[in-house]
Amino acid sequence: MYILAPSILSADFTRLGEEIAACEAAGADWIHVDVMDGHFVPNLTMGPFIVEACRRATRLPLDVHLMVERPERLIEAFARAGASRLTVHVEACADLNATLQAIAALGCQPGVTLNPATPIDRLAAAIPLVDLVLVMTVHPGYSGQAFMAETLPKVRQARQMLDAAPSSAWLEVDGGISAVNIRQVREAGATAFVAASAVFNHPEGAAAGVRALRAALEGKTPPAAN
Ligand code: DX5
Ligand code: ZN
Repeated sequence: MYILAPSILSADFTRLGEEIAACEAAGADWIHVDVMDGHFVPNLTMGPFIVEACRRATRLPLDVHLMVERPERLIEAFARAGASRLTVHVEACADLNATLQAIAALGCQPGVTLNPATPIDRLAAAIPLVDLVLVMTVHPGYSGQAFMAETLPKVRQARQMLDAAPSSAWLEVDGGISAVNIRQVREAGATAFVAASAVFNHPEGAAAGVRALRAALEGKTPPAAN
Protein backbone atom coordinates (compact mmCIF):
# COMPACT_ATOMS: atom_id res chain seq x y z
CA MET A 1 0.00 0.00 0.00
CA TYR A 2 1.25 3.46 -0.90
CA ILE A 3 0.14 6.68 0.72
CA LEU A 4 -0.65 9.80 -1.31
CA ALA A 5 -0.63 12.94 0.81
CA PRO A 6 -1.63 16.16 -0.98
CA SER A 7 0.03 19.21 0.62
CA ILE A 8 -2.45 22.04 0.97
CA LEU A 9 0.38 24.56 0.59
CA SER A 10 -0.64 24.92 -3.09
CA ALA A 11 -4.41 24.76 -2.48
CA ASP A 12 -6.75 27.67 -3.15
CA PHE A 13 -7.28 28.88 0.41
CA THR A 14 -10.50 30.67 -0.50
CA ARG A 15 -11.90 27.17 -1.15
CA LEU A 16 -9.86 25.05 1.26
CA GLY A 17 -12.71 22.77 2.33
CA GLU A 18 -13.67 22.02 -1.28
CA GLU A 19 -10.06 21.40 -2.27
CA ILE A 20 -9.61 18.90 0.58
CA ALA A 21 -12.93 17.23 -0.23
CA ALA A 22 -11.88 16.82 -3.86
CA CYS A 23 -8.63 15.14 -2.76
CA GLU A 24 -10.49 12.82 -0.41
CA ALA A 25 -13.07 11.84 -3.05
CA ALA A 26 -10.26 11.11 -5.54
CA GLY A 27 -8.60 8.70 -3.14
CA ALA A 28 -5.99 10.72 -1.24
CA ASP A 29 -4.88 8.94 1.94
CA TRP A 30 -3.63 11.76 4.17
CA ILE A 31 -3.71 15.55 4.02
CA HIS A 32 -0.24 17.09 4.45
CA VAL A 33 -0.02 20.44 6.26
CA ASP A 34 3.22 22.44 5.93
CA VAL A 35 3.88 24.57 8.98
CA MET A 36 6.66 27.16 8.52
CA ASP A 37 7.79 29.69 11.10
CA GLY A 38 9.86 32.23 9.14
CA HIS A 39 12.97 31.14 11.08
CA PHE A 40 13.73 27.48 10.39
CA VAL A 41 12.70 28.23 6.83
CA PRO A 42 12.26 31.71 5.31
CA ASN A 43 8.59 31.27 4.57
CA LEU A 44 5.69 31.72 7.01
CA THR A 45 2.57 29.64 6.50
CA MET A 46 -0.03 28.14 8.81
CA GLY A 47 -0.61 27.30 12.45
CA PRO A 48 -2.95 25.20 14.61
CA PHE A 49 -5.95 27.25 13.50
CA ILE A 50 -5.67 25.90 9.94
CA VAL A 51 -5.16 22.36 11.22
CA GLU A 52 -8.36 22.74 13.21
CA ALA A 53 -10.20 23.89 10.06
CA CYS A 54 -8.80 20.91 8.10
CA ARG A 55 -9.93 18.61 10.91
CA ARG A 56 -13.51 19.81 10.36
CA ALA A 57 -13.20 19.43 6.56
CA THR A 58 -12.10 15.79 6.33
CA ARG A 59 -11.87 12.47 8.09
CA LEU A 60 -8.48 11.75 6.53
CA PRO A 61 -5.43 11.70 8.80
CA LEU A 62 -3.71 15.09 9.01
CA ASP A 63 0.02 14.71 8.36
CA VAL A 64 1.55 17.84 9.89
CA HIS A 65 5.11 18.73 8.85
CA LEU A 66 6.64 21.15 11.34
CA MET A 67 9.33 23.29 9.69
CA VAL A 68 9.81 25.30 12.86
CA GLU A 69 12.57 25.94 15.38
CA ARG A 70 12.08 24.15 18.70
CA PRO A 71 8.90 22.31 17.67
CA GLU A 72 8.52 20.99 21.23
CA ARG A 73 6.93 24.35 22.11
CA LEU A 74 4.11 23.81 19.61
CA ILE A 75 3.31 20.12 19.49
CA GLU A 76 0.60 20.26 22.11
CA ALA A 77 -1.26 23.00 20.24
CA PHE A 78 -1.12 21.01 17.00
CA ALA A 79 -2.22 17.82 18.74
CA ARG A 80 -5.19 19.63 20.27
CA ALA A 81 -6.07 21.09 16.85
CA GLY A 82 -6.47 17.57 15.48
CA ALA A 83 -3.13 16.58 13.95
CA SER A 84 -2.84 12.83 13.43
CA ARG A 85 0.88 12.83 12.71
CA LEU A 86 3.53 15.32 13.74
CA THR A 87 6.86 15.27 11.93
CA VAL A 88 9.80 17.29 13.25
CA HIS A 89 13.19 18.17 11.76
CA VAL A 90 16.34 16.75 13.37
CA GLU A 91 18.00 20.14 12.76
CA ALA A 92 15.33 21.98 14.78
CA CYS A 93 15.07 19.90 17.96
CA ALA A 94 17.15 20.45 21.12
CA ASP A 95 16.29 16.90 22.27
CA LEU A 96 14.93 14.89 19.35
CA ASN A 97 14.05 11.73 21.24
CA ALA A 98 12.25 13.62 24.02
CA THR A 99 10.25 15.52 21.39
CA LEU A 100 9.24 12.30 19.63
CA GLN A 101 8.20 10.74 22.93
CA ALA A 102 6.16 13.83 23.78
CA ILE A 103 4.37 13.60 20.40
CA ALA A 104 3.43 9.97 21.09
CA ALA A 105 2.27 10.86 24.61
CA LEU A 106 -0.10 13.42 23.05
CA GLY A 107 -1.69 10.64 20.98
CA CYS A 108 -0.11 11.53 17.61
CA GLN A 109 2.12 9.43 15.37
CA PRO A 110 5.69 10.73 15.61
CA GLY A 111 7.72 11.37 12.49
CA VAL A 112 11.24 12.60 11.87
CA THR A 113 12.72 14.40 8.89
CA LEU A 114 15.90 16.06 7.68
CA ASN A 115 17.00 18.60 5.10
CA PRO A 116 18.72 17.50 1.88
CA ALA A 117 22.12 18.59 3.25
CA THR A 118 21.78 16.64 6.52
CA PRO A 119 23.25 13.11 6.57
CA ILE A 120 20.78 10.29 7.12
CA ASP A 121 22.69 8.91 10.11
CA ARG A 122 21.52 11.93 12.13
CA LEU A 123 18.20 10.16 12.59
CA ALA A 124 19.41 6.61 13.16
CA ALA A 125 18.91 6.69 16.93
CA ALA A 126 15.33 7.90 16.50
CA ILE A 127 14.17 5.01 14.29
CA PRO A 128 12.69 2.94 17.15
CA LEU A 129 10.60 5.95 18.22
CA VAL A 130 9.01 6.90 14.90
CA ASP A 131 6.13 5.83 12.72
CA LEU A 132 7.42 7.83 9.76
CA VAL A 133 10.74 8.93 8.30
CA LEU A 134 10.50 11.81 5.81
CA VAL A 135 13.31 12.37 3.33
CA MET A 136 13.08 15.90 1.92
CA THR A 137 13.56 15.91 -1.84
CA VAL A 138 13.79 19.72 -2.03
CA HIS A 139 15.14 22.34 0.39
CA PRO A 140 12.07 23.01 2.55
CA GLY A 141 10.28 26.34 2.35
CA TYR A 142 8.22 26.50 -0.80
CA SER A 143 6.08 24.35 -3.03
CA GLY A 144 6.69 24.20 -6.76
CA GLN A 145 10.44 23.52 -6.60
CA ALA A 146 12.18 20.97 -8.84
CA PHE A 147 12.75 17.47 -7.45
CA MET A 148 16.41 17.01 -6.43
CA ALA A 149 17.44 13.71 -8.03
CA GLU A 150 20.57 13.70 -5.88
CA THR A 151 18.37 12.87 -2.87
CA LEU A 152 17.46 9.44 -4.32
CA PRO A 153 20.49 7.70 -2.75
CA LYS A 154 19.33 9.02 0.61
CA VAL A 155 15.87 7.51 0.06
CA ARG A 156 17.63 4.18 -0.60
CA GLN A 157 19.76 4.59 2.54
CA ALA A 158 16.66 5.33 4.61
CA ARG A 159 14.99 2.21 3.15
CA GLN A 160 17.98 0.10 4.17
CA MET A 161 18.03 1.65 7.62
CA LEU A 162 14.34 0.90 8.20
CA ASP A 163 14.60 -2.65 6.84
CA ALA A 164 17.68 -3.36 8.96
CA ALA A 165 16.11 -2.05 12.19
CA PRO A 166 13.61 -3.61 11.36
CA SER A 167 10.97 -0.88 11.32
CA SER A 168 7.62 -0.74 9.57
CA ALA A 169 7.62 3.07 9.63
CA TRP A 170 6.41 4.86 6.52
CA LEU A 171 9.18 6.23 4.32
CA GLU A 172 7.80 9.51 3.05
CA VAL A 173 9.20 11.85 0.39
CA ASP A 174 8.32 15.51 0.00
CA GLY A 175 9.26 18.04 -2.65
CA GLY A 176 8.93 18.10 -6.42
CA ILE A 177 7.05 14.80 -6.55
CA SER A 178 5.15 14.46 -9.84
CA ALA A 179 3.65 11.84 -12.13
CA VAL A 180 6.98 11.87 -13.97
CA ASN A 181 9.18 10.85 -11.03
CA ILE A 182 6.90 9.18 -8.47
CA ARG A 183 7.52 5.66 -9.75
CA GLN A 184 11.28 6.12 -9.61
CA VAL A 185 11.03 7.33 -6.01
CA ARG A 186 8.84 4.37 -5.11
CA GLU A 187 11.48 2.07 -6.58
CA ALA A 188 14.06 3.71 -4.29
CA GLY A 189 11.93 2.51 -1.37
CA ALA A 190 9.49 5.30 -0.53
CA THR A 191 6.00 4.32 0.64
CA ALA A 192 4.34 7.71 1.24
CA PHE A 193 4.35 10.60 -1.24
CA VAL A 194 3.62 14.26 -0.58
CA ALA A 195 2.69 16.53 -3.47
CA ALA A 196 1.45 20.11 -3.52
CA SER A 197 1.79 21.58 -7.00
CA ALA A 198 1.29 18.27 -8.84
CA VAL A 199 -2.11 18.00 -7.15
CA PHE A 200 -3.43 21.54 -6.80
CA ASN A 201 -1.91 23.04 -9.94
CA HIS A 202 -3.17 20.21 -12.16
CA PRO A 203 -4.98 21.88 -15.09
CA GLU A 204 -8.11 19.80 -14.43
CA GLY A 205 -8.11 20.37 -10.67
CA ALA A 206 -7.02 18.61 -7.52
CA ALA A 207 -9.02 15.41 -8.04
CA ALA A 208 -7.40 14.90 -11.44
CA GLY A 209 -4.03 15.62 -9.86
CA VAL A 210 -4.54 12.90 -7.24
CA ARG A 211 -5.70 10.41 -9.87
CA ALA A 212 -2.75 11.15 -12.14
CA LEU A 213 -0.28 10.56 -9.30
CA ARG A 214 -2.03 7.35 -8.26
CA ALA A 215 -1.96 6.03 -11.83
CA ALA A 216 1.73 6.85 -12.16
CA LEU A 217 2.49 5.30 -8.78
CA GLU A 218 0.52 2.10 -9.04
CA GLY A 219 -0.44 1.75 -12.67
CA LYS A 220 0.83 -1.19 -14.60
CA THR A 221 4.05 -0.46 -16.43
CA PRO A 222 3.64 -0.92 -20.17
CA PRO A 223 4.78 -4.35 -21.44
CA ALA A 224 8.32 -4.30 -22.73
CA ALA A 225 8.50 -4.22 -26.53
CA ASN A 226 9.87 -7.41 -28.06
C1 DX5 B 1 8.32 22.04 1.06
C2 DX5 B 1 7.11 21.45 1.74
C3 DX5 B 1 6.40 20.55 0.80
C4 DX5 B 1 5.81 21.28 -0.38
C5 DX5 B 1 5.77 20.37 -1.55
O1 DX5 B 1 8.95 22.88 1.93
O2 DX5 B 1 7.48 20.69 2.86
O3 DX5 B 1 5.41 19.75 1.45
O4 DX5 B 1 4.53 21.77 -0.12
O5 DX5 B 1 5.41 21.09 -2.68
P1 DX5 B 1 5.62 20.49 -4.15
O6 DX5 B 1 4.98 19.15 -4.20
O7 DX5 B 1 5.00 21.50 -5.04
O8 DX5 B 1 7.12 20.39 -4.32
ZN1 ZN C 1 5.97 19.13 3.68
